[in-house]
Amino acid sequence: MIAERLQGVNASETLVISAKAKELKAQGVDVVSFTVGEPDFDTPTHIKQAAIEAIESGFTKYTAAEGIPELRRAIVERVKEDLGLDYEIKNVVVSNGSKQALYNFFQAVLNKGDQVLVPAPYWLSYPPMIKLAGGIPKIIQTTQKQNFKITPEQLKKAIRPKTKAIILNSPSNPTGAVYTKEELESLARILEEHDLWVLSDDAYSKLLYDGFTFYSIAKFSKKLFSKTIIFDTLSKTYAMTGWRVGYAVGSEEILKAMAIIQSQATSSINSISQKAALKALTSSQACVKAMVKEFEGRRNLALQELSKIKKIKCFVPQGAFYLFPDVSKYYGLKFRGKEITGSNDLATYLLDEAKVATIPGYVFGADKCIRLSYAASLDHIQKGIARIHKALEQLE
Ligand SMILES: Cc1ncc(COP(=O)(O)O)c(C=O)c1O
Repeated sequence: MIAERLQGVNASETLVISAKAKELKAQGVDVVSFTVGEPDFDTPTHIKQAAIEAIESGFTKYTAAEGIPELRRAIVERVKEDLGLDYEIKNVVVSNGSKQALYNFFQAVLNKGDQVLVPAPYWLSYPPMIKLAGGIPKIIQTTQKQNFKITPEQLKKAIRPKTKAIILNSPSNPTGAVYTKEELESLARILEEHDLWVLSDDAYSKLLYDGFTFYSIAKFSKKLFSKTIIFDTLSKTYAMTGWRVGYAVGSEEILKAMAIIQSQATSSINSISQKAALKALTSSQACVKAMVKEFEGRRNLALQELSKIKKIKCFVPQGAFYLFPDVSKYYGLKFRGKEITGSNDLATYLLDEAKVATIPGYVFGADKCIRLSYAASLDHIQKGIARIHKALEQLE
């Protein structure tokens, strides 16, 4: 009954453990959840106000599938200001989150059997999206030792005649790793010698710590400018996950094809969110700065608390709002005779015993780790990690 293309494609696995945590919470259990992939802040008032005005003024009809011209113009200007790159509005399509933009890209560009390079740990939606378009995700495995970033040698080795694209996600979900300008440049030199599409997933590019600044791979040369498609979203930057506003910026030809897919699938995103997004992008960015400052404090606290657990080695992320500690030293240990064999067992154990919800690393292609989102209050971070500590000490 179900089409072949759905074979091996599952619903988003992060939702399973979050759903279990929510169920426990609904039963009155005091669960600390580190599963969320979204800021816990409310959307800033001036952005909400713009949406209210859109409704009240009757801006409630279909719009152009690519998005309203004012919003596309605002995106061009923000990309110019933030990344120093020059585009026109014909290079921009607004989508229902950058998730739809990525989906559109794969549908528009991949033929059956085309390969896409996906550095692991990866955002878990990339492989299914590629598969749904008939493509083959080719995983480039990185380790904590290499700071979860691919090396030029790995990249060189991975590129094959069937390779059509590579995804770069910096800062990364789930690791928070950020490529430095120098690291990107060494990858850029290799990419320039080939004819791949470079998908720069910049979803977390505004959430950077330790004074890091974001650099776009599209800036290294004309060729890379023409081959890079930027995917960005208002979801994380402005605490707007539910508004569903993201966008793609790049080659006119590709963006046109992506707009055709979108126009036949969902038309435009909703008109009201477009007005809210316009306000977000064109107003003062102070709200973003304030959120980043708060996240940095939480990251520091979470790292400090985790460092008390001697068997955990945690990579220090410079961006996004996740920690991705290596918990593999606990594998092979037991609780009441039941062995922890991998990240799924460990996350399940932490939820059952410590009432702390985390995401097992295997869903991101990294079974040694678990993901903790610190989009949570300082109190929650302290309490949750103390509980994890206690539960892990019970393993023998
Ligand atoms: C790395 C990455 N890219 C893209 C997205 C898509 O976000 P949205 O569809 O809300 O724009 C997410 C969301 O979690 C993400 O983590």
